[in-house]
Amino acid sequence: WPFHAPYVHAINQLKAERNAVILAHNYMTPEIFHCVADVVGDSLQLAIEATKTDAEVIVQCGVHFMAETSKLLNPDKTVLIPDMDAGCSLAASITGADVRALREAYPGVPVVAYVNTSADVKAEVDICCTSSNAVQVVESLGAPRVIFLPDEYLAKYVQTQTDVEIIAWKGHCEVHERFTGAELRAYREADPSIRIIAHPECPPDVLAEADFTGSTARMIDWVKREHPARVVMVTECSMADNVAAETPDVKFVRPCNLCPHMKRITLPKILDSLVSMTEEVVIDPAIAARARRSVERMINLKS
Ligand code: 13P
Ligand code: SF4
Repeated sequence: WPFHAPYVHAINQLKAERNAVILAHNYMTPEIFHCVADVVGDSLQLAIEATKTDAEVIVQCGVHFMAETSKLLNPDKTVLIPDMDAGCSLAASITGADVRALREAYPGVPVVAYVNTSADVKAEVDICCTSSNAVQVVESLGAPRVIFLPDEYLAKYVQTQTDVEIIAWKGHCEVHERFTGAELRAYREADPSIRIIAHPECPPDVLAEADFTGSTARMIDWVKREHPARVVMVTECSMADNVAAETPDVKFVRPCNLCPHMKRITLPKILDSLVSMTEEVVIDPAIAARARRSVERMINLKS
């Protein structure tokens, strides 16, 4: 990637000068993932790493809720996001007022929020979860019924793994809801040896076709462990690009879908962010204290 080189060089130099760390989600493009990130991972791994860093500045290469989570866990640090408009259809599907209404409709029923939510929503719930610990979090509450929000499909997936009754909100990921079971069956009919692995934000008919379901980090680990000859990674497109660099013997068969929010993060914007120290993520302290509790309760669960 010759035209990336000057950006990579400048970002890495400024990062050291500013005592900054770059936390990058697995959906970042390869030049970010491989060339400027200090830590890469799924949402849970990034949240845990955010609690460990000694850097004074965190540059979150991911979407807004991820940057908010880093800020919640590092209230005294500067947390920057290279594009403030990098949102998420799941986070946009529910507000704190919606959660308060749910609590009134289901008195006494505990509420679990997927981390793909705003700090405002996190402040109203009992505990957060990610796609890699959702079942464990639901069961940790010891309740017969749990409200799970906002991802309806993740909630349905969790319901297949637990006896706890799940009451779901009807939010969807605009990237994963576009896959269909029919398109995957067509790939399997064309090549019965093909392996299909899917993120749990996919609809149930898609997960029914999958040989493995897991968070983005677990999907990457699965490919590195199983070394399939041909695999469909039913998730965001950069996942296959990033893992392909480390698994040259694996053929990644499309489809994949792009997340327009994740793709807002680019090398030029990361550089701008470090030059001008913008855009800074700020959370109202009254909301932050309550939202932090929900995230910390998740992180403190023993795995
Ligand atoms: P992971 O926690 O599995 O990385 O998922 C985050 C996400 O936004 C998937 O669309
Ligand atoms: Fe949100 Fe879906 Fe994009 Fe993940 S892939 S950030 S869940 S819109």
